[in-house]
Amino acid sequence: MKFKLLILACLVCVSAAAQTSLGDMTLEEKARCVVGIERSEFPPTNKGFCARTAPFPKYGINSLVLADGSSGVRLSRREQDRATAFPSNMALASSWDTELVQKVGAAAGYEARGYDINVLLAPGMNIIRNPLCGRNFEYYSEDPVITGKMGAAFVDGVQSNGVAVSVKHFTCNNQETNRGHVNTVVGKRALRELYLKGFEICVREASPWTLMTSYNSLDGVPVQESYWLINGILRGEWGFDGLVMTDWSFVPHNTVAQIHAGNDFLTPGSADQVRDIIDGVNKGTLDMADLDRACSKVIQLGTRTWHGGSASAPDLTPGAEMSALAACEGAVLLENNGMLPLAGGKAALFGVRSYDLVAVGSGSAYVVSPHVIQINDAFRSAGISIDTELEDLYRKYVAFASADIAYNEKVKVSIGLPLLPELELRRSLIDKAADRDDYAVITLGRTAEEGIDRGLKGDYYLTDIEKTLISNICEAFHARGKKVAVVLNIAGIIETESWKHLPDAILNVWLPGQEGGAAVCDLLTGAANPSGRLAVTFPADYFDCPSALDFPYDKPEQGRNYDRTEYSEGIYVGYRYYCTKGVRVSYPFGYGLSYTSFDYSALKVRSTCKGISVSFTVTNSGPVSGREAAGVYVSAPSGGLDKPSGELKAFAKTRLLAPGESETVSVEIPASWLASFNEEAGKWQVARGQYVIHVGANVESPRLSAKIKRK
Ligand code: BGC
Repeated sequence: MKFKLLILACLVCVSAAAQTSLGDMTLEEKARCVVGIERSEFPPTNKGFCARTAPFPKYGINSLVLADGSSGVRLSRREQDRATAFPSNMALASSWDTELVQKVGAAAGYEARGYDINVLLAPGMNIIRNPLCGRNFEYYSEDPVITGKMGAAFVDGVQSNGVAVSVKHFTCNNQETNRGHVNTVVGKRALRELYLKGFEICVREASPWTLMTSYNSLDGVPVQESYWLINGILRGEWGFDGLVMTDWSFVPHNTVAQIHAGNDFLTPGSADQVRDIIDGVNKGTLDMADLDRACSKVIQLGTRTWHGGSASAPDLTPGAEMSALAACEGAVLLENNGMLPLAGGKAALFGVRSYDLVAVGSGSAYVVSPHVIQINDAFRSAGISIDTELEDLYRKYVAFASADIAYNEKVKVSIGLPLLPELELRRSLIDKAADRDDYAVITLGRTAEEGIDRGLKGDYYLTDIEKTLISNICEAFHARGKKVAVVLNIAGIIETESWKHLPDAILNVWLPGQEGGAAVCDLLTGAANPSGRLAVTFPADYFDCPSALDFPYDKPEQGRNYDRTEYSEGIYVGYRYYCTKGVRVSYPFGYGLSYTSFDYSALKVRSTCKGISVSFTVTNSGPVSGREAAGVYVSAPSGGLDKPSGELKAFAKTRLLAPGESETVSVEIPASWLASFNEEAGKWQVARGQYVIHVGANVESPRLSAKIKRK
């Protein structure tokens, strides 16, 4: 309450401050106000990595510090400060738990504030359209409702500290290849229902204080110069009242068009842009009213965010606790033939990543954390005996290879790259381990980064060394009646269909953040019960994916999918495609196993003027406590616009249910979310007739269904 009053008071001051300062500011001052200051002008104490706004002390306007925040606060390279590395957004989304994501946002916001940062450049909210996008790990899901709800929860958490977010990258930035110039060609229906919907939910539900426009073009117009997208849709239709900033312009843009379209702050900022603005106003190509709007948004942001100056670095303990919890909640158990939870005995830990975990992704999402808990160390701390001969071998390899020039510490600390390649092991060595150990755990890893998309060979598909490692270890251990688990420590979707039958269990922890090793240990031993569910589909093969050919999978350097990418699959992205067209997948959207089981009962659906109310009861029918994630999917009446076989319209996660315990889940589906965008009519339309509501996490296996009529 107190905080809300403070914000209200700030808002009143904002408009007053904005009015007074604007009236007094010269053209040059206004131009400098809306362009970031050059890095050489940053004060030596600067903690944020990315950008600052210009200060105007005579008007009481402070400089604002902007820092990246996709996996936690990314601090200046000059500082030795550390911040908590949280699980990637893909992992957070797999928790299906918006309360958790709100708390992660609050923990990240608290650290940002403690480091005097005003704007955290997160969350990434682009739709996961294709498995190979280099930034998928920074995004939540192939589904806009999960994306929007997760984004809104994160925004709410960060902003509860008085720190602004920057929801990014608005919009259709679904590939990194030629991201600065690629022209994405997207039908209006797919644009509205998928690529804008998540942003819309977040803007309407959480009122982010800033948003970042993407580098790419949409239908021939650079998004950063699109008046229709920024002023028309974002501000006009959705009522966004915050500041719009550009993504970090490494490509020349039309400054005047960017401001006119609705950008209020140009990043990272250059003297040329200041000059362009002044010239634009003087020559009459830029309206003073546009510049005033932009300037007042910068001033407004300053009064919305917290200022103070922290005496000391923030306490990172709460962040570590939240990161550990989130790593467990976001992990998805993909296979388990009875091996897990582990029954005890000595572990053979294989794979470089068992000793050198990929905690966070690379690029602007990279966070230098105070520590990264390794899987081998976590096993030892939990009192589990591990094969020390294997440990010695891998440790030596990591130390030796890390000393290599290509892997020097400076590079690793700034961007987390490159990853050490997997180690090839002789069969005799594996056989000896299988003789002396009780079970094996193989950890496989992948990272990814902005500016480059993932490749097929050796990234989406396992490398030959990885394939041989899995098959040799499975053969050796199975021959002795011993089991094998694979842990996936990955930055995105990989191929699993061809090898998933080999091990006895597969646990996917994604990029789990700094506490990842402990989470793996807790989940494998049953100290935590996996409750994550996929918020993306794992196709059986890359080429089953609807956008397979309309994506730069073959690394073009010009032409198709480089200069121009057509989203020819329309609205049939992810499960909307696989389910509707009956394409078999490796793991469907919503899939995930648990150490317990859940019964669903008492589905009630009620049509109201606001939409559809849905309630149902989930009961833990198994032997141990656990949480269930439940999705509510809607199948629309046939006739009228073509519709996917089902679409997620709501979801919820139960509390921890003890064996035999039940929880009644109630969710509301807003009437407007039943609508599809009719391109010809240029408007949203709700189909009349019979809707079917399906309940259950896994999109392919609904647990309960009910019909309901909408007039
Ligand atoms: C990225 C943004 C990031 C910015 C600042 C850009 O290259 O696309 O996501 O916030 O750099 O680091």
